[in-house]
Amino acid sequence: MKIGIFTSGGDAAGMNPAIKAFVELAIENSFEPYFIYDGLEGLIDGKIEKADFHMVAGILHRGGTILRSSRSKRFYDKKYRQKAFDNLEKHGIERLIVLGGDGSFRAMDVFYKEFGINFAGIPVTIDNDIYGTDYCLGVDTALNVIRHLLDNIRDTASSFGRAFVVETMGRSCGYLAIVSAIASGAEICIAPELEVDFEGIKKRLKREIENGRTYILAVVGEGSNMTETVRDFLLNELKFDTRVTVLGHVQRGGNPTIFDRLMAYKFVECAIEHIKENIHHMVGFKNSKFYLIDIDSVANNKYKLDDFLIKLAQTKAV
Ligand code: F6P
Repeated sequence: MKIGIFTSGGDAAGMNPAIKAFVELAIENSFEPYFIYDGLEGLIDGKIEKADFHMVAGILHRGGTILRSSRSKRFYDKKYRQKAFDNLEKHGIERLIVLGGDGSFRAMDVFYKEFGINFAGIPVTIDNDIYGTDYCLGVDTALNVIRHLLDNIRDTASSFGRAFVVETMGRSCGYLAIVSAIASGAEICIAPELEVDFEGIKKRLKREIENGRTYILAVVGEGSNMTETVRDFLLNELKFDTRVTVLGHVQRGGNPTIFDRLMAYKFVECAIEHIKENIHHMVGFKNSKFYLIDIDSVANNKYKLDDFLIKLAQTKAV
């Protein structure tokens, strides 16, 4: 049986280890692995090639994706989905493994319903915002990148007695902001899941300043759209010399951590184990176990951040 793999949407560290695991485990299980380049765009354009061991040598430690990625507008159009299906038929590819986020899975949900293409999705996004899984591949690496940068900013903030507002990615999900604020001991955390009380923050930090606090670190998730508001607050209400750092795409790069390398193998192993079945599922990781969840359910439900994390971070928003 021929199985194709592609990476889609925002890239994340862990994609390359997963591609390597795919080639190794597919061959070990007597499947024929195929690469599809440039995500759904490449599927439409027929950028498909048979894969072999030598093509995944020396990629395990690299961020990004050797298959490249895209966000395909054309795939919304049935005529291009038909082209994508024809390309799969032409190569005799009967199954797909899709590394991507919720946008990619919504697209695959439609593709499966129209053409009956069987596939296994592996959740990969630094946002950690996919329903049905506690963990998305790449999140550990992104958090470690952010942690490193926040530690650096704290150094200079303390030297100058300044306030820093650091904006993290994550779209409408505050996971990156919340976990990194907790893990870096930030004084303020603002995220879509948190209720913000600026008066409360002011009182709390004024007390701390009276007791010797000389600098402030605020972590703001991009989805809250409050980076400038927090900057103005620190400047005008707390009278701090304030700087803003938008971390941006540095969060998407970097060598995958040990955890992401291991998780890549485990996600792919579960996908390969079930790939012969009538599969249109995502491999989820819940309560420390890998399992399959129907793609329809993934595509039509919203991820909810862990209550315990919200509770911890809420103390930094008031
Ligand atoms: O979904 C991953 C992500 O990095 C988000 O956190 C961010 O909002 C978005 O992608 C950025 O998208 P682009 O790479 O298209 O600028």
